[in-house]
Formats: sequence, structure tokens, C-alpha cells
Amino acid sequence: MRTQVGIIGAGPAGLLLSRLLHLQGIDTVVLENRSRDYVEARIRAGILEQHSVDTLTAAGVGDRLQREGLEHRGIHLQYPGTRATLDFPELCGRTVWVYGQTEVTKDLIRTQLDGGPPLLFEVSDVRPEDVDSDSPRIRFTDADGTEQVLECDAIAGTDGFHGASRPVVQAAGAGRVWERTYPYAWLGILADAAPATDELIYAWHPEGFALYSMRSPSVSRLYLQVDPGEEIGNWSDDRIWDNLERRFALEGWSVNTGTITEKSVLPMRSFVSAPMRRGRLFLAGDAAHIVPPTGAKGLNLAFADVTLLAQALVRLLQEKQSDLVDSYSDRALARVWRCTHFSWFMTSMLHRSGDEFDAELQLSQLRRIVESEPAARELAENYTGLPLEI
Ligand code: FAD
Ligand code: DHB
Repeated sequence: MRTQVGIIGAGPAGLLLSRLLHLQGIDTVVLENRSRDYVEARIRAGILEQHSVDTLTAAGVGDRLQREGLEHRGIHLQYPGTRATLDFPELCGRTVWVYGQTEVTKDLIRTQLDGGPPLLFEVSDVRPEDVDSDSPRIRFTDADGTEQVLECDAIAGTDGFHGASRPVVQAAGAGRVWERTYPYAWLGILADAAPATDELIYAWHPEGFALYSMRSPSVSRLYLQVDPGEEIGNWSDDRIWDNLERRFALEGWSVNTGTITEKSVLPMRSFVSAPMRRGRLFLAGDAAHIVPPTGAKGLNLAFADVTLLAQALVRLLQEKQSDLVDSYSDRALARVWRCTHFSWFMTSMLHRSGDEFDAELQLSQLRRIVESEPAARELAENYTGLPLEI
């Protein structure tokens, strides 16, 4: 088998990269080790920045997003006694959209399978090889158990945090890794309940952070800060609703309850691996970096990476110019660190550490954002997404 760009991983990063390259006349083959059903059912992110929405729309995969996505003009920031609203268009002229990662993934997969480039599910033993040469290849075993070789001009490692690509980049020995494990986790639920709020609520509470989000006018997505070692089995539905009710408590308002259809505990960490390239192997998305979810950045960062990478690969493969691939890692990492800082800032401001001094600093910071327009604008600009090139 031969293609121009071999793409490892059919998460949002790999699928969007394939689509962007296809639109520029570049051949790709996408290799995914899970099944289509598994990939489409993985519940994850829910917030799309303006640039993500614009990119999906321009790539012709935004029809359902435009119909079913919910445009949000702000967020509520809550701490005891106060629920304040940040108005994003007023502060920075941009908005965000609620549209589940599951739906983005389904839209991209459907478009790809409908006459787009090959997308192979349930492959195994995927190995990028000879990435320091101009003709790298990917060895893998296909779903029928047959060993295959995919000859490429370049390889994109979009195979997430546990994929096969990052170890190959790191094996060059010249790279660096930064890591932070946060002493918090999120218990996330999906519930058949109409959201009781117009905008997402980010709530600081003495018992821990809580986030009120949604997926549609009839489905709510809610999160509670819990300890990292927390067993989901210890959380009955009643216990979850009681905690949510307490942490979001506000005079005259209450959480809408309903059937919980999914619940899980998610660890929180930050990770950056540099460079995001070795020879003709380029990393993008969670394969190169992870952020804690509080700023809703992970999916958007993955989309920003592949937007830069697509431009760089088009220039390399069609115009035979290597300037954009040579600067890709530095340009992508500038944005990665900005988002890593914002995610750290939101996480540190909103989660209870148990330390009373920390708590007063957090409350002071929250009051500052609510009372000072420049402080609110700084949050709004980062939350709705900074320009692609920083
Ligand atoms: P992934 O989605 O991890 O995709 C990688 C793909 O590669 C997967 O399909 C995987 O099966 C495949 N793969 C792995 N190994 C191999 C291999 N060896 N061979 C072939 N294929 C392989 N981000 C936000 O922006 N906003 C949010 O609100 C948000 N909330 C989140 C909530 C949760 C619960 C979680 C877990 C994450 C959240 N994120 C959020 C982060 C976001 O989901 C990720 O950043 C995003 O999925 C990254 O996309 P990706 O394509 O880089 O990686
Ligand atoms: C969601 C997740 C987040 O991390 C966030 O900051 C906002 C919303 C969500 O899953 O809806």
C-alpha cells in the first residue's frame, strides 16, 4: 500500500487532518486500532471554540453542528452567594459552541467513509518506521490478521496519549517531557434531564468544584471534583445529585435531575512532549500533550495542531518547501503552552485543595474576574480561543 500521508489514530485530530488534506488533493490512509462503534461512543469533550467551529464548517463537516450545536455567549462563574455571568461577545467578540466530541467524530467518520480516503478500523501492532528518511512507512496488521506495509511521504501521529507514535519521536533522545499530576479527579455524569441553566456554570464550593454543562436541550453533562482514588461504585445516583445540589446551591434555583445514563471518574493531569516532530513523523493532539479539562481546551488544541500541520504538509508535498514543517513544532507548542497555562489557571482557581489560605486566594481571584473587565476579558479571550498562530 502507498499513500502520501499515513495517519495513525482516528480520533478528532486524525480524522480532521485527513479531511483537510483530502480537500487540498493530498492522499491519506487513516489507521485506527479500535472499532467504529467504540470510537463513536467515547464520551469526552463538549465545548468547541470559534476557530474549531469555523474549521469544521469550512471543511464541509459542519452542517449538523450548525443545526444541532448550541451556541453559547458566555459562562456563569459561581462562588458562595454569587453567580455572575461573563458575556463573551461583549468581552472579546467571540462565542463557543456546545456540540459533543462523539457527534464531531460521527460527522467526520461518515464524511470519510462516504467516498473519502481509506479509514481502516481494528488494525493492530502499528509501527512507524524509517521516520528519519524521506520515505517512511507504517507496518500494521489489518482487521483480517494480514500484515501490511503502508509506504508514505510523511506520517501523522494522532494516536492519543497511549499511542505508538510518541515513543518513536522520544526515542531520538533529543526531546523533553513536562508533566503535572493534579491531586483532583472529576466524576462525570450524563443525564436525561433538561439543563436548568442557559450557560455552563463553573462553581467554586467549599466541598469542591462542580461544573454544569450539557449536550442538548434534553441532556445534561455534569461534573463533581472528587479525590483521584475515588471508586465510582461508591457514588449512588442519589449521592451524586445531593452533591450537585449542594455545590450549585443558589436561592430560588435548583438542578434538574433525571436518569443518569453514564458515570465515570476521570483523572486530571497535564503533559507536554517536545518536539512534536521527528523527521517525517509529526505528532498532533493528545499524542503530544494533555491538559486538565477545566478550560475545555484538549479537543480544540488537537484541531489547532492539525490545522497548522495540514498547511505545513501541503506546502511540503505540493510545493516541495520545508519551511512550514520545520517550524510546525515550535508554532504548535506556543499555543500548547498558552492552553496549558489557561487550563492550569482555571483548574487552580476552581478546585479545593483543602488549604484555607489557597481558598481565600481563589475567592479573591474569582471576585477580581467578576468585578474587573480586563480580568474577565483575559478569561474570555482564552476560553473562546486565541488565534491559531500566537
Ligand atoms: P484521541 O481522541 O485520544 O484519539 C486518538 C485515536 O488513536 C483514538 O481513536 C485511539 O483509539 C487511536 N489509537 C491509539 N493508539 C493507537 C495505535 N497504536 N494504533 C492506531 N490507533 C491508535 N477537550 C476539550 O476541548 N473540551 C472538553 O470539554 C473536554 N472534555 C473532556 C472530557 C473527558 C472526559 C476527556 C477524557 C477528555 C476531554 N477533553 C476535552 C479532551 C479531548 O477529548 C481530547 O483532547 C481529544 O480527544 C484529543 O483528540 P485526539 O484525536 O488527539 O486524541
Ligand atoms: C465540558 C467539559 C469541560 O472540561 C468543560 O470545561 C466544559 C464542558 C463538557 O464535557 O461539556
